[in-house]
Amino acid sequence: MTPKATTSLQQFINLLPTNDQKDSGLAQDVAQGLSQFPKKLSSKFFYDARGSQLFQQIMELPEYYLTELEHEILDKQRKEILFAFGTQEPFQLVDLGAGDALKTKLLIKELVSQQTDFNFVPLDISPRQVEHLLEELQATYPTLKVTGLAAEYVQGLQWLNEQSPARKLLLFLGSNIGNFAPGEAQQFLCELRRKLSPQDRVLVGVDLRKDPEKIRRAYDDAAGVTSAFNLNLLHRINQELSADFALEQFQHFAEYDPVEGAMRSFLISKQPQEVHVQALQQTFSFEAWEAIHTENSYKYSLRQIHEMAAACQYEVEDYFTDTTHGFADILLKPLP
Ligand SMILES: C[S@@+](CC[C@H](N)C(=O)[O-])C[C@H]1O[C@@H](n2cnc3c(N)ncnc32)[C@H](O)[C@@H]1O
Repeated sequence: MTPKATTSLQQFINLLPTNDQKDSGLAQDVAQGLSQFPKKLSSKFFYDARGSQLFQQIMELPEYYLTELEHEILDKQRKEILFAFGTQEPFQLVDLGAGDALKTKLLIKELVSQQTDFNFVPLDISPRQVEHLLEELQATYPTLKVTGLAAEYVQGLQWLNEQSPARKLLLFLGSNIGNFAPGEAQQFLCELRRKLSPQDRVLVGVDLRKDPEKIRRAYDDAAGVTSAFNLNLLHRINQELSADFALEQFQHFAEYDPVEGAMRSFLISKQPQEVHVQALQQTFSFEAWEAIHTENSYKYSLRQIHEMAAACQYEVEDYFTDTTHGFADILLKPLP
């Protein structure tokens, strides 16, 4: 195959605004989130180039058990998962928030070895991640059909539906669903349902409830990588919105609420201070020890997942857990 023909099997589509950084939604999120009480910022803005790199490091930390558990599921049960979906007809494997697709690559390897006809669609809000993944896949699987999508979840899915009616297996791995508050998670699953047909399936990776100490340590590691990841959000605001956050005047704090199953991360202002955001022409005041809520990572029971699925017109068709029952990949079937 000539290099030209090889390249044509891959395409990169960027649906995100690229020219004006303020259009990314960051400016609006900062303006709203830092004007309210309690202050908050959306975790979707963690993933600039540096944030994505730091997240790769988090996934390798001994405390961050999530990747290892889900990796075990997709490694040991990949054949069963693909069999449950049914891969005889051509389909699209859509990875929502693909990141480095570490675990998805286990499915890709299996599908390639079975000579399955499929198109891989990694979708991520971080264009750099998608481009990087495309390069890597090109080198490993030069004949794999890949459409890299830099987009927000629903926006990307909408675009895909407009392009092709092909059957889809949506992956929503890595406990991404946990970043939504429970009401938002249900809303999101319902919104996906409206964009799917009964032949499609969704595989959702869910971090299950477990020893609260183990959960807390996963978000407050000894080496301080999660702290750097959290603080990088302020660095991003400094870079993209010309703000003057002094990073050393904020500290990372993480707590787990075992009643709600809520792992929450914050950035705490260590002293009274004012921060000016030039792009917004706004100054925000912080009291000593005031918190900015930056991330939710909700943990679920299987009962909660069944309830949420039923509320959005899905049936739990199957589910796959690791040997410790700490993590589950749930296969959802849209009901007609
Ligand atoms: C926790 S990582 C998980 C990555 C991968 N799925 C895994 O299981 O290892 C979350 C990924 O979702 C992406 N992401 C976060 N919010 C997003 C959004 N609203 N739309 C699209 N991608 C998003 C991030 O850039 C990041 O790569």
